[in-house]
Amino acid sequence: MHFLSTTNLSHEYLVHLIDSAMRFKRGDDQSKPLAGKSVALVFFNPSLRTRASMQVGVYELGGNAVVLEPGGTSWTLEHREGAVMDGDKTEHVAEFVRVLGRYCVAIGVRTFAALKDWEEERTDPILNAFAKYSDVPIINLESAMHHPCQAMADMMTIRDRVGSGRKRVLLTWAWHPKALPMAVPNSFALAAAQMGHDLVIAHPKGYELDDELMSETRKHATAAGGSVTIVNDTDEAFDGAEVVYAKSWGSSNFYGAPEKDIAGRAQYRSKWIVDEGKMAQTNSAIFMHCLPARRNVIVTDGVIDSPSSVVIDEAENRLHVQKAILAQLLEK
Ligand code: CP
Repeated sequence: MHFLSTTNLSHEYLVHLIDSAMRFKRGDDQSKPLAGKSVALVFFNPSLRTRASMQVGVYELGGNAVVLEPGGTSWTLEHREGAVMDGDKTEHVAEFVRVLGRYCVAIGVRTFAALKDWEEERTDPILNAFAKYSDVPIINLESAMHHPCQAMADMMTIRDRVGSGRKRVLLTWAWHPKALPMAVPNSFALAAAQMGHDLVIAHPKGYELDDELMSETRKHATAAGGSVTIVNDTDEAFDGAEVVYAKSWGSSNFYGAPEKDIAGRAQYRSKWIVDEGKMAQTNSAIFMHCLPARRNVIVTDGVIDSPSSVVIDEAENRLHVQKAILAQLLEK
């Protein structure tokens, strides 16, 4: 079994993962299911939290992490089936993952969207090539479309800080000087719906999440007894929220033309920032962000430094939830 997205996992399984993560966090679970074993962590892109929390998590479970950076500390990688490899790619994912599978019991991979070709990238081609060829579990450490480890840490943080049960959860787009991938908002929306929250997604027109992903999100919300509401007005979005989750993402309309996205969004800069005024409209909401966050761009200093900000707990919970994911995936 791979861990690529939460969408095919049941509500009960997600709750079970959070329960397990809470036991790791409290120190009630000291098990070492990775004793004598290794896990490969493959990073095509930069990372602080994911890389450090996975390395520490593997160590705390008794194992050894092998960190590889294709094109840096390992060969450049081709993922396309049938590719004639006479360009700059040295090794194919087909050999790469099967060789690693002879050394390691699982492989984590981070491979961001390049924001060049929406129709191709929305299918997560590199992540799926890893999953296709691998004989050992693949863990998605953020792909073009999903960041399920982040989403599970987010759901754990909501339960830990706001309590169990249905909450009014706002996922709000924020202005940013660059077009960013959609993996975090996609996975947050899916997981929040799967947990049965009342999810409000606020973004300017043109920044809609993927149609298929929204259809899955709505189905999950209905099944779990929650709801999904889309608003294009930042003022009404914050009313009554118990959780505010800020994230910027690029528009799928401008994949391949980021300069058009940046020019078009200039009008939103002062309006789409999480500030003290907006937080005052909420129902004493906690403030969440996956980090890294640009201060006074995505969120004001006053909000991220306030007692309502849980961004450091949220980052800590990456460690506990990933230990739970590893332990579950490798359970015999
Ligand atoms: N939130 C998150 O994935 O952080 P990094 O990009 O630093 O790993």
